[in-house]
Amino acid sequence: MTGKGKSRWANDEEDAALEAQKKREKEEKKRIKTEKARKLEEEKQAREAKERKAAEAQRQDHDEDEDATRPPAKRRRISPERESATAATTTGGSSKLLRFEGGAFGRCRSVENYDKLNDIEEGAYGWVARAEEKTTGKVVALKRLKIDPKDRSGLPVTGLREIQILKDCDHRNVVKLREVVVGDDTSKIENIFLVLEFVEHDLKSILEDMPEPFLASEVKTLLLQLASGVAYLHDNWILHRDLKTSNLLLNNRGQLKIADFGMARYVGDPPPPKLTQLVVTLWYRAPELLLGAARYGQAIDMWSIGCIFGELLTREPLLQGKNEVDELQQIFELCGLPTEETWPSFRRLPNARALRLPPKAPGAASGSAVRARFPLLTGAGVSLLNSLLTLDPERRPSAREMLAHEYFRQDPKPKVEAMFPTFPSKAGQERRRKRQTPLAPVRGQAVELGSVDFSGIFSGRDREERGGGFSLRMV
Ligand SMILES: Nc1ncnc2c1ncn2[C@@H]1O[C@H](COP(=O)(O)OP(=O)(O)OP(=O)(O)O)[C@@H](O)[C@H]1O
Ligand SMILES: [Mg+2]
Repeated sequence: MTGKGKSRWANDEEDAALEAQKKREKEEKKRIKTEKARKLEEEKQAREAKERKAAEAQRQDHDEDEDATRPPAKRRRISPERESATAATTTGGSSKLLRFEGGAFGRCRSVENYDKLNDIEEGAYGWVARAEEKTTGKVVALKRLKIDPKDRSGLPVTGLREIQILKDCDHRNVVKLREVVVGDDTSKIENIFLVLEFVEHDLKSILEDMPEPFLASEVKTLLLQLASGVAYLHDNWILHRDLKTSNLLLNNRGQLKIADFGMARYVGDPPPPKLTQLVVTLWYRAPELLLGAARYGQAIDMWSIGCIFGELLTREPLLQGKNEVDELQQIFELCGLPTEETWPSFRRLPNARALRLPPKAPGAASGSAVRARFPLLTGAGVSLLNSLLTLDPERRPSAREMLAHEYFRQDPKPKVEAMFPTFPSKAGQERRRKRQTPLAPVRGQAVELGSVDFSGIFSGRDREERGGGFSLRMV
């Protein structure tokens, strides 16, 4: 079968050529379009970058306006966090800047806005100094953020908690954080400082120096303020976890301020099941912590308040254990031995399971020795102190309950704050303090201490007879 004209194949070839031509044209158009879009995008990005720069410059100008009275900072620094916290988002074709603010403080000012007046305290990791704000002449306390000796690479969680908690707190019995400032080399943790309201004294220094103990009326005022501050913290789900006299500040107007939130943390209700046991300086540490409780709550702060109460009365720390075991022994001597009745959950605590308490010896002091130790304290005082030093944390009063205790209503009435005596300020002098009290525990030591030291010392005390006529041993 032959025919004239173009064959079907020839037609196909022509069509194919046409098709190829069309395809090429289409691709060329597409390329031009893409190229145009790319150019437009580039122009857009350049425009946006320009706008961002202008906005940044404007913001800096604004900062300077606010700081008009202050001398210019030595170096202007735009922190990398701020840059990375700025993300661009595109909505409906128009690009919008989305800024994540880093909290109420915004960018930290330089520590150079302050002149150091004198050191207040310099320890292994901590440093606190009295300083003056250059422009206002306001006197403040500068506290260098503690570094974690085990981890020098990041911001220590304790430091972050201290900043966050102090920033959230607003109570007359809690020290105020004015701002956080940074030193020249912001890459170093040691260069972050808390600027705190300056308070003339801490209770520890006053107690060490005063020739006579506080009057009963003064003890009541101090305890009321302490309980009031702690009630505020507990109402706001904050555990302080290091209440002791050196962390309680007193100004010249008789106002007490709770300080040092390096151990503090937020907790819920019920508290998290596994909290670190290595909290609270040994002499103020509750028995449930010494016995390894991983779940604990506000009652640990109440125990510390009991220890502080005793110290305010005698000017001597109440329970000066040499180590965890000795501390526990001293606690049992003062407060009595735990029994099924006085502390039903005691045996379930990790370190209590293997603890063998001696049988009650006739004549041995197995009950509370608080009355004998504080012969001059009123009945109401003894009742409050005994309740704060109750072995079973469930039976300790809350801070609110403490505030309502009759001890504070009885004569002598709490002294009016303004009538408080004034003391020469150690913090205002050019001298460093030497502390004889144990330091707050360091993070990360808990496991070793709990499992090794504790049992070792107990077994070494097998036949030891002490104080009230009983001994403790691990079996
Ligand atoms: N705002 C303040 N005003 C005056 N003195 C202060 C202030 N804050 C702290 N101090 C003093 O510095 C001491 C140490 O402060 P703080 O307890 O906050 O630091 P720290 O490094 O955690 O100390 P430590 O480990 O000894 O508990 C306090 O005992 C007190 O004497
Ligand atoms: Mg402290």
